[in-house]
Amino acid sequence: MGTDRHVSLTEADYLRLLVHGTTAFELVRASLELEIFEQLDRAGGMDPARLAEAIDVPVQPARVMLLGLCALGLVDKRDDVYVISRMTRDKLLRSSPRHLGPLVDVQAKVINQAMPDLAESVRHGTNVGLRHLPGPGTTLYERLTAHPDLQRVFYTNMGDASRKAFAPLAQCYDFSTVRHAVDVGGGDGTNAIELARRHPHLTVTVFDHESVTRLAADRIEDPDLRRRIRFHPGDILTDPLPAGADAVLVFHIFEIWSRERNTELLRACRAALPDGGVCLVYNFVSNDAGTGPMSAGLVSPYFLTLASGEGMAYSAADMEQALRDAGFAHTERYEDMGFSHALVVGRR
Ligand SMILES: C[S@@+](CC[C@H](N)C(=O)[O-])C[C@H]1O[C@@H](n2cnc3c(N)ncnc32)[C@H](O)[C@@H]1O
Repeated sequence: MGTDRHVSLTEADYLRLLVHGTTAFELVRASLELEIFEQLDRAGGMDPARLAEAIDVPVQPARVMLLGLCALGLVDKRDDVYVISRMTRDKLLRSSPRHLGPLVDVQAKVINQAMPDLAESVRHGTNVGLRHLPGPGTTLYERLTAHPDLQRVFYTNMGDASRKAFAPLAQCYDFSTVRHAVDVGGGDGTNAIELARRHPHLTVTVFDHESVTRLAADRIEDPDLRRRIRFHPGDILTDPLPAGADAVLVFHIFEIWSRERNTELLRACRAALPDGGVCLVYNFVSNDAGTGPMSAGLVSPYFLTLASGEGMAYSAADMEQALRDAGFAHTERYEDMGFSHALVVGRR
């Protein structure tokens, strides 16, 4: 959905969508799996019988799917056939540059099974939902190291989101004076790749769990990028940061941890920087009033229930305060960056 476009619903339908949210999600997920949107688009519209034939199912289920998708505004009825809506064309066709498939996939395969543990997680203040994913450690990231298929699903979505969020960052922050950046919890290397591609003078070191740095290394084929992107496997909370950087990137990390743990991490980042070095904290954020936006309200329970048991989409004010508490005397905030993101920079 474009950020400036609105969908109108009656209050009753809005409440229906909340209560029947699992069904709405499965209508979308099943349509992606069955390639219903591609079929409708290719044919320029279909009735239930034609769709049933195209996806090789009985007519009744095809009718159920088209009814549900129409009620959700994902397909429209024109004359006697169903066609995809503008919203579907923009975000749900596989060929769309803003395709939501990776997000739907990670919700379906990694996140949704944990979310019924939200109440227990609230009661205990910890990520009870992690019990569905056996393996080492107490965070989703550690558990994923024991599930390579799910780890791939997670990083396909994370990388997709980070790539989309990198474009506004590149526009608002001037990296031209940075020589060597350490990407703390750098994940599959998406930010490192985006940064190194735009700045041929720059070296990036990705610091993450060993299985993740391997995943990142495997993605990079370009010889120039292979030379300028390095890997430092380890634990970002307990191991020292790699030396020699004049910038530390903390992208989509602050939202994982408690305020206290974030302050500790930022203190370690500051200690690894020379005078004049910068620490960039870039995240999904909530507003300073704690009233939204929707993305922050819906992603925060995931951090509590599954990812770590202690994070949330904090406000830019929280990020700035943590940088100050960690000893950064000079801070700058960049807000309204799109994708519900904010950047706060601390300069040593
Ligand atoms: C939400 S992902 C963000 C990835 C990347 N920064 C991005 O923006 O795409 C969090 C990353 O932090 C890493 N991480 C979390 N806790 C860690 C720890 N204790 N040691 C090393 N890496 C950690 C995870 O493995 C994961 O790749």
